[in-house]
Amino acid sequence: MKHLLAIEQVSRAEIDAILDRAESFAEVGRRDIKKVPTLRGRTVVSLFYEASTRTSSSFELAAKRLSADLVSIKAAGSSVDKGESLKDTVATLSAYDPAAIVIRHPYAGAAQLVAEWSDAAVVNAGDGKHEHPSQALLDLFTLRRQLGSLDGKRIWIVGDVLHSRVARSNLIAFQEMGAKVTLCGPPALIPRGIEELGCAVSYSLDGLDEADVVYALRLQKERMKESFVPSIREYAGHFQIDSRRLGTRQLLMHPGPVNRGVELSGEVIDSPHSLIAEQVASGLVVRMAILYELLAIGGESPAPAEEDPGERPTPMGQPA
Ligand code: CP
Repeated sequence: MKHLLAIEQVSRAEIDAILDRAESFAEVGRRDIKKVPTLRGRTVVSLFYEASTRTSSSFELAAKRLSADLVSIKAAGSSVDKGESLKDTVATLSAYDPAAIVIRHPYAGAAQLVAEWSDAAVVNAGDGKHEHPSQALLDLFTLRRQLGSLDGKRIWIVGDVLHSRVARSNLIAFQEMGAKVTLCGPPALIPRGIEELGCAVSYSLDGLDEADVVYALRLQKERMKESFVPSIREYAGHFQIDSRRLGTRQLLMHPGPVNRGVELSGEVIDSPHSLIAEQVASGLVVRMAILYELLAIGGESPAPAEEDPGERPTPMGQPA
């Protein structure tokens, strides 16, 4: 695997390999010293044109835990503010010979363009409404730990599917792993013809009790140029997941950030059903595994780093 641009380009075998690798990195994360020398001497560029807390922080920490050098650019406050184009920004950062560029951008297809302009491995950290493949992988990892196999499991993705790159990536990933997916939301927020991807569609929460997993989505007001719901209050009345609607055996997920009191009530966010904190923790080890897969396996393998005893407290400096 040279790049991670879209989950639809990742095979089931590649998904399993990344999740297995992430499990190894979770073991490293339980040590006192959580760093391995795998990417020492290599450079990772983190380039974010849209707001992020989870994805940016976890990719940056993942690069540091793998001992890479990290260059972190947020478009706001950079020369993008002076009008520098994406192409020129990538050319500028490519002068540092990065091994990987992690890019988030509002334009669907931006990560693909960066892959064409740069020799680096490119990770799509979210491109417009298109895809968010590392989110799908961390969600698969979270669910694998809870449920084992997803074969035959029922997952309802509820909310603003239309504007959600997470919904698209997760629909593909959940189905690839054998789950049966239902997309649920008001008609204006469900893309027409999405059933052709093999999922079911529901315009109400009737039937939610069949779900093993309820995956709620944020109303993405920043991507709405018109009014898609009559009011937030009415939307919440019909589609908010609260303790009345969530069954005792059901797991609750959300990619974050949550509009507390809109798509989720406060009580379910903080309930034992919620895997939201586990999703964030999974993000770190899965993103370590992605960088490992692209830079140590898929790309050119680096020369073995000299061991630093301070960073190798046990013989297992690199996960098997
Ligand atoms: N889930 C997700 O992408 O969160 P951030 O926008 O905080 O990165």
